[in-house]
Amino acid sequence: MSSVKVECVVKEHLKIGESPLWEEKENSLLFVDITGKKVYKWNTLTKEIHSISVDAPVSLVALRKSGDYIITQGTQFAALNWKTKSVSAIIQVDKEKPNNRFNDGKVDPAGRLFAGTMAEEIRPAVLEREQGSLYTLLPDHSIVKHFDKVDISNGLDWSLDHRTFFYIDSLSYSVDAFDYDLHTGTISNRRGMYKMEKEDAIPDGMCIDREGKLWVACYSGGRVIRLDPETGKRIQIVKLPVDTTTSCSFGGSDYSELYVTSACQGKDEPGLAGSIFKITGLGVKGIPPHSYVG
Ligand code: BGC
Ligand code: CA
Repeated sequence: MSSVKVECVVKEHLKIGESPLWEEKENSLLFVDITGKKVYKWNTLTKEIHSISVDAPVSLVALRKSGDYIITQGTQFAALNWKTKSVSAIIQVDKEKPNNRFNDGKVDPAGRLFAGTMAEEIRPAVLEREQGSLYTLLPDHSIVKHFDKVDISNGLDWSLDHRTFFYIDSLSYSVDAFDYDLHTGTISNRRGMYKMEKEDAIPDGMCIDREGKLWVACYSGGRVIRLDPETGKRIQIVKLPVDTTTSCSFGGSDYSELYVTSACQGKDEPGLAGSIFKITGLGVKGIPPHSYVG
């Protein structure tokens, strides 16, 4: 029996820490501070931490096949060159909604980047509703809009056979599933997969493990939960020392460590809120992140 251990590995006061991303060739964890407008790279061997400031809220960082990274800033997809610290715009969405910004996103197994939007918040999880949409950035830099009327577009991932897309609109308090066509990148047949328990609070970021189970970070819930998409049941809870857990993804040399981001927005005395945590001893591994092919 392995025993689960939770450690604070990067003590920061990120306003909204998000988008943990393992980059194997650098032994590094990347993450962002959305409203802090920074992208971070933390080398887990040397413990060095570097960051780049950008001009607008940055909600995600993703790997790019040609090297370097893709980020979202404001309502824009953009390319980030780490060496020169330069950001170049790719394309903008939600042009008619100046109060919107991108939120969570991830690259699909075919190298397309999915990301959704939301209205800026008045305070955590309080915002004008139904302003967001879910988009894909295709390899040729064109955009597909899948649907609108989203409150807070959040966690997403694909089943191991690539035939199901899992998606969270946070204020629906539900983890949904769609049929996925990897060939075309289209989604269909939306249905609820898991309804949050009251103590789970708000579903936020999510990732899949090598057994096809989902890990969901629960904002205001101070935990990550493991869900079985076959049965729609919660099968494990791991509690964190802060309640504002925002997202999770596997990393480490063999993807056996689950990294969890958190936020300190709206807190007078943040303590460890806004730090990065590492969970080990879960007895299950994750899968490497995909790279955007455009
Ligand atoms: C958003 C935050 C929001 C939180 C809780 C995060 O993904 O970026 O702004 O407060 O979800 O729903
Ligand atoms: Ca999120």
